[in-house]
Amino acid sequence: MKAFTVEAPGGWAGAALRDVPVPERRPGCALVEMHAVGLNPADNDQIFGRYPGGPQPPFIPGRDGAGVVLEADEGGRWKIGDEVVVLQSSTTDLAHGTLCEQQWLPAENLAPLPAGWTMADGAAAPLVYLTAYQALTIGGTLRPGNVVLVTGASGGVGVAAVQLGLALGTTVIALSRSAEKRERLLGLGLQHVFAPDDPDLKGAIRKATGRRGVDVVVETVGGPSLGQAVHLLDVGGRVGVVGVRAGIEGSVPIVPLMFKRCSLHGVLLTTESPESAQQAWRTIVELLQAHHAEPIIAKRFPLTETAAAFQQLASDVFGKIVVDVR
Ligand SMILES: NC(=O)c1ccc[n+]([C@@H]2O[C@H](COP(=O)([O-])OP(=O)(O)OC[C@H]3O[C@@H](n4cnc5c(N)ncnc54)[C@H](OP(=O)(O)O)[C@@H]3O)[C@@H](O)[C@H]2O)c1
Repeated sequence: MKAFTVEAPGGWAGAALRDVPVPERRPGCALVEMHAVGLNPADNDQIFGRYPGGPQPPFIPGRDGAGVVLEADEGGRWKIGDEVVVLQSSTTDLAHGTLCEQQWLPAENLAPLPAGWTMADGAAAPLVYLTAYQALTIGGTLRPGNVVLVTGASGGVGVAAVQLGLALGTTVIALSRSAEKRERLLGLGLQHVFAPDDPDLKGAIRKATGRRGVDVVVETVGGPSLGQAVHLLDVGGRVGVVGVRAGIEGSVPIVPLMFKRCSLHGVLLTTESPESAQQAWRTIVELLQAHHAEPIIAKRFPLTETAAAFQQLASDVFGKIVVDVR
């Protein structure tokens, strides 16, 4: 079969589409014929050997995917012909990724392809929506009427957080560096979109919401964005710390954190049990379907152009990059 494999550490020199044998059966797994795979920055980090605890070569990257069951798991949870999506959880084996034609995947990490979704939709969705959902709900209850701020709002996690925040009845404020993307974000149904370098961002948020700050930040950008997020919180607000696109170091203003009694919460999808990932996924699909929202796919690439797909992900996105395996 064809698989995008990483055979040497440290980047594109060791990564290529290759002919390899179908992996051996693993206990608790079903064999899935992959149809589409959604790319994530963490896949790129694994290829470059900078993902903490990531697999050592040789390995197949890819955490998201959708396909059809070719061989059932021994427990009979899935049967031949079932259309499934892959949910990342604590039992995801990072070395046995989805960027290939067939893969044995843990039965407990598979869920039915939601009704009306294409394989590309199914491949684009799980990781970013599960992450966004964790970031929205970690450390407290999210209530209708709460104000949610999403940084890096045009990215995979950002778009998912915007859609879920709206579906949960919150007031969503999105930040994006690009005027064109801010315009597109308005098309998702939210009312407030700003540039992160707006010199009076706090004033603009106050004017837009009538509130002194926001209740929850889904912080996908990292670097200086983390400190800014704390400044923008209202009393008792919290930040779900998700991403590091603008840097892995950030400083936090201690006085506002103390005086507003705010909290920071690290979000890490790989810590979710398979059961909690399944439960969150069911809620996510219900919310999206009830609000007629669907995954936003920026661009699709064939499997033969996987490297170009990663380059697109690193340079510019609005939503998700998907690789069509079939
Ligand atoms: N903790 C977890 O479990 C978990 C799970 C999934 C993802 N992540 C991490 O979360 C982050 C976002 O993931 P993603 O899938 O949404 O990535 P993505 O699709 O590449 O989007 C990231 C967004 O961040 C903004 N951005 C990119 N580079 C930036 C920079 N240098 N400065 C400021 N903003 C920048 C961009 O938004 P604008 O152009 O609109 O400004 C971009 O659309 C990544 O670091 C990823 O590794 C963590």
